[in-house]
Amino acid sequence: MENRSSFTGKLGFVLAAAGSAVGLGNIWRFPYLAAKYGGGIFLLVYLILAVTFGFSLMVAEIALGRKTGLSAIGAFNKLNKKFKFVGVIAAIIPIIIFPYYSVIGGWVTKYLAVFVSGGAKAAANDSYFTDFIAKPAEPLVWFAVFIGITAVVVMLGVEKGVEKVSKLMMPILVILTLFIAIYGLFIPGAMEGFLYYITPDFSHFSATTVLAAMGQLFYSMSLAMGIMITYGSYMKKDVNLESSVHQIEIFDTGIAFLAGMMIIPSVFAFSGGDEAALGKGPGLMFITLPKVFDSMPGGSIIGAAFFLLVLFAALTSAISLMETIVSIFEDKLNFGRKKTCLLVLAGTFILGIPSSLGFGVLGNISVLGLSILDMFDFVSNSVLMPIVAFLTCIFIGYVLKPQAIIDELEVSAPFKAKKLFTVIIKYVAPVFIVLILISSILDVLGIFKI
Ligand code: TRP
Repeated sequence: MENRSSFTGKLGFVLAAAGSAVGLGNIWRFPYLAAKYGGGIFLLVYLILAVTFGFSLMVAEIALGRKTGLSAIGAFNKLNKKFKFVGVIAAIIPIIIFPYYSVIGGWVTKYLAVFVSGGAKAAANDSYFTDFIAKPAEPLVWFAVFIGITAVVVMLGVEKGVEKVSKLMMPILVILTLFIAIYGLFIPGAMEGFLYYITPDFSHFSATTVLAAMGQLFYSMSLAMGIMITYGSYMKKDVNLESSVHQIEIFDTGIAFLAGMMIIPSVFAFSGGDEAALGKGPGLMFITLPKVFDSMPGGSIIGAAFFLLVLFAALTSAISLMETIVSIFEDKLNFGRKKTCLLVLAGTFILGIPSSLGFGVLGNISVLGLSILDMFDFVSNSVLMPIVAFLTCIFIGYVLKPQAIIDELEVSAPFKAKKLFTVIIKYVAPVFIVLILISSILDVLGIFKI
């Protein structure tokens, strides 16, 4: 690893980490989960978890990477051979996520094409989205287009170019999202939805709410899967790690909040306040936003611009996911980069097929009441990630000891939140994660009875 390249400075680091973090998780996943799990109460739980768990875990992962100069598997292995398996489980998670992430990426690509080709009116139709995903071939074609683009970028190694473009597009995305969100608030009936989104209603609170919020937090911040360890390994020693983490979190959470503000009030407006419309799940963004665009003057152009920007955010995340998977296999297989890329591409396509067909041909298959795509999402975000997070806390809290992480941070600047960090990593997070995992598994089993 003598030639490990590093980010030029703090801004470079924060932007790169934020580029990986901000993606479909913020724009597509956060709003539908918030809608489904009680609006304000989900938002509140999410925010509390972000500043406690999210903060501590991100600090821990980045510090592990910077301390060892290695990616997940190597980092755990170097510090303690017995904990290498944590790195291995972490490395499996992107392999589960990438295929279904790209299926959704394909839907975004399709919507961009629809808006560009003047189909905005049709897309605002109630059944447009469900009809589309129920088709056998078309979603697969868009899925292939999306991973194809991702693979070309990874293979040619032109990420830097894409990153430059996305640095330009990300601010435009924020402004456009803000504009759509504010516009949406003026649609009659939307205010009620906005209140639902920001007012916590404790009667909607359950263990599943917390598990969903925790899974979303890990997912959105690209935690508990080794990615941040890798990013940390590229971070220079003189960059202030603590304040970098604050900035990444504010960026990531801010965009998620805006996306929810853009989607949830509009769902209320267009469903006439019918709460059942909130449970639409993965399709929420694709069903609601076209209606908003349809009601706007110039909506088809704004819609096209919007889906283009979302596609970019999705691509930058997908590129970083694929890059991770390729580098894992590259180390293990020694096939060379091109071959490994093609192998990962083919494998991902095959793994993604069931997720894509799960809304049509394979629609009668459900696991614990979840569609195939939701099932992969559940296994990675609500089962494996909490397990990795738990093991990471145990490792740092009791094997490596928090002081090692604190020392790593204090190479650059005093660690202001070190007490909070220590208490969370040693006591709060492990106990809490176990309780939440157990109670929500019982919940799922109880509700769906297998
Ligand atoms: N955080 C990304 C998002 O919000 C999704 C994601 C999860 C991801 N794990 C990742 C992106 C790993 C890049 C690398 O969309």
